[in-house]
Amino acid sequence: MKAITVIPGRLNSVRLEDVEEPVTSNGSLLVQTLAVGVCGTDGEIVRGEYGFAPPNRSRLILGHESLGRVVHAPDGGGFQVGDLVVGIVRQPDPVPCASCAVGEWDMCRNGRYAEHGIKELDGFAAERFSIAPRFAVTVPPGLEDVGVLLEPTSVVAKAWEQIERIGARAHWRAARALITGAGPIGLLAALLGVQRGLEVHVLDRATEGPKPGLVTDLGATYYAGPPAAACIDVDVVLECTGVGQLVFEVMKCIAPSGIVCLTGVSSGHRQLTVDMDALNRELVLENNVVFGTVNANRRHYEAAADALVRADRGWLKRLITRRVPLDRWVEAFVRQPHDVKTVIDFTREAGHCHSGSVL
Ligand code: BGC
Repeated sequence: MKAITVIPGRLNSVRLEDVEEPVTSNGSLLVQTLAVGVCGTDGEIVRGEYGFAPPNRSRLILGHESLGRVVHAPDGGGFQVGDLVVGIVRQPDPVPCASCAVGEWDMCRNGRYAEHGIKELDGFAAERFSIAPRFAVTVPPGLEDVGVLLEPTSVVAKAWEQIERIGARAHWRAARALITGAGPIGLLAALLGVQRGLEVHVLDRATEGPKPGLVTDLGATYYAGPPAAACIDVDVVLECTGVGQLVFEVMKCIAPSGIVCLTGVSSGHRQLTVDMDALNRELVLENNVVFGTVNANRRHYEAAADALVRADRGWLKRLITRRVPLDRWVEAFVRQPHDVKTVIDFTREAGHCHSGSVL
C-alpha cells in the first residue's frame, strides 16, 4: 500500500512509497484511510526539525489527523465494519506514569509516551492503518466531510476543559475570550468559546482570505490590528500562534483573575528582552494564571465530537480550504496564502510515486 514517509531529522526526506500492509493482530481494527489533515507539526517534521522514527527504523509514516472507515473489526471491540473512526494520537508510556495509568496520557509525566505520525509510532498517512479499539474514536454519522477536524478539535476541547478547571479555583465566570491566531486551532478554539456562550474576539495578521469571514460568521469579532485593541478586559486568552512577542503581550493585558492558555509551539529562537519583575508583579497582584496545554485524551476526543455535531456543518467545511488527492500529496505541504486547513484525500486513486522538495 502507499504511505507518506519521512526520515525524522532529515530535510527533503519525505516521499510517497510502497510499505507493508498493517498488522492487525491482538484484536486491532483495520481502517481504510479517507483523509489526513496537515498541521504545523507535520511541517516541522518534514523540515527535519521534529519527529522520531519507530525503534530500529529510519522512516516514520507521517500523519496524526486521521479519518477512516473500519474494514475489519474483531468481535466485542465495540466497532462495526463501516464505522467512521479517528485514531487517537498519543499512546501511554510503558511504565506507566501516574497520569498514563489512568488514561490521561495527554498529561504524561515521564515523556516516554509515543505519538502516531510524530514520535516512535507510524502515523495515519497510509492507505490503511490498524489501531486498537481503545485508541479509536467513533465519528458521529453525518460528519464524514469534516471528521478529519476531530483531532485538532480534541486539542482545543482539552484547552477549554483545563481553562474551566483552573477557573473553578475561585468564584469566576468568564465573559470575554481572546483567541490569538486564526489558523485551524484558533478558529476551532473560537467555535468552542462561542458554544460556551462567551463573547469571542480573534486576532490574526490576515486582512484578506477566509479568516475574517469565518470569525464573523461565528458571531465573534475579528481584529487584524495591534494586540492592544483586541485585549481589553479579557478573562481568557487562548494563544494559538506560539509567537513569543505576542505571548508576552497577552500576558500583560489579561483582566484580574484572568487565564492565559498557551497552545502554540514556538518554532523560532527569537530573543526578547522582558521586564520579568513587572510581569511577575502583575501576575501576582491580579491572581493571573498562564499555562501550557498539549495533546488530548479520550475524554477530549469525545467532547470534540460533541462540539462538531453542534457546529454548523457548512462553517466546518469552510475550514478545509484545500483537499489534495494522494497522488498530488506534495502540494499539501506547500503553504498557500489563504490556507486554513489542508487535507490529503485518500479516496482518490494514487498514481505514481513522487518525491519532491517541499516547504
Ligand atoms: C498534535 C498533538 C501532539 C503535539 C506534539 C500536535 O500537532 O496535535 O497531538 O501531542 O503535536 O507532538
